[in-house]
Amino acid sequence: MMQVIHAPAEMYNQTMLLKMSGKKVGFVPTMGYLHKGHLELLKFAREHCDSLVLSIFVNPTQFGPKEDYGSYPRDLERDKELAAHARVDTIFLPDVDSMYPPGYRTFVEVEELSKGLCGAFRPGHFRGVATIVCKLLNIVAPDEAFFGEKDAQQLVIIRKMAQDLNMPVKISGFPTVRDADGLAMSSRNVYLSDEEREQATGLYRALQNGRSLIEGGETEAARIDAAIREAIARDVPAGVVEYVDIVDGNTLAPVSRTIGKTLIALAVRVGKARLIDNIRVGG
Ligand code: PAF
Repeated sequence: MMQVIHAPAEMYNQTMLLKMSGKKVGFVPTMGYLHKGHLELLKFAREHCDSLVLSIFVNPTQFGPKEDYGSYPRDLERDKELAAHARVDTIFLPDVDSMYPPGYRTFVEVEELSKGLCGAFRPGHFRGVATIVCKLLNIVAPDEAFFGEKDAQQLVIIRKMAQDLNMPVKISGFPTVRDADGLAMSSRNVYLSDEEREQATGLYRALQNGRSLIEGGETEAARIDAAIREAIARDVPAGVVEYVDIVDGNTLAPVSRTIGKTLIALAVRVGKARLIDNIRVGG
C-alpha cells in the first residue's frame, strides 16, 4: 500500500527504519502534475531501489515574483493514482509552512553554475532549487536521488551541491523523455495551444541540427548557434528565444569552439509556455 507522509520528521524516521533493515531508499523529487517523463523516471528509479519515495511540492522559492507559481498546474488526485501505478511506496507531500515556517532564513547558493543559461533569465531560481533539493535530501535521506536531464543546468547544480556539501547521496540523471514528435515532456506543455505545440516540435529539430553540424566537423560555436536560431525563426515563428547557448558540458561555461563534451541548451517562450530543452554532444 502506498502511503502519504506530510510531516518532515515522520519522513526522516521512516527512511532511518528502512535503512536499518538494510533497504535501499530511492527518491524522485517533483513539483507534481506528473507526465510521462516523470513516470519513466519513476520506473527507472523503481528498478534501482527497494523503497521508492516521490515528493510533490510546488516550491515557492524557485519562482520569480512574475512567474507562474500561482497558476502552476496541480492535480493531486491524478498524481496519486499515477504514483500508485508506478509502484511508489511513499509520497512525501509537505505543505509550504512546514518547509518554510515563519522566520525561515537559510538558502543554498551554488556559485557560478547558477549564473548563465536559465539563471540569467530567472534570478534566484537556482537558489530556490538548490535550497529545496538540499532540504528534501536531508528529510528523505535517500541512498540515491533521480533527476531528469531536461533540466540540464539544474542537474549540474545539484550534483555540485551534493559534492560540495558532502551529502551522502548518489545523484543520478535520466535522459529526457520526448513525445513521438520530439517535444520534451514538461508539465508546462499544457500551456500550449495546438498550433503552438505543433511549432514547438521545431525546437528539438533545431538542437538535432546543431548536433549534426558538430558531428559533421563544425567546431565554431557562433556558426552552430546561428544555424539553430535560423531554424527556430523558420520553424517556430511563434517562439521568442530567451537564449541558445553552447557551453562546456561540465562547467556550463560558454565555449567558442566545440571541442570535447558540449551542451547545447535553449529556452524559448512559445505563447504562455517557457520551454527549455538541450542536447549533449561528444565526451
Ligand atoms: O525539477 C523539478 O521539478 C524541481 O525543480 C525540483 C527538483 C522538484 C525542485 O523543486
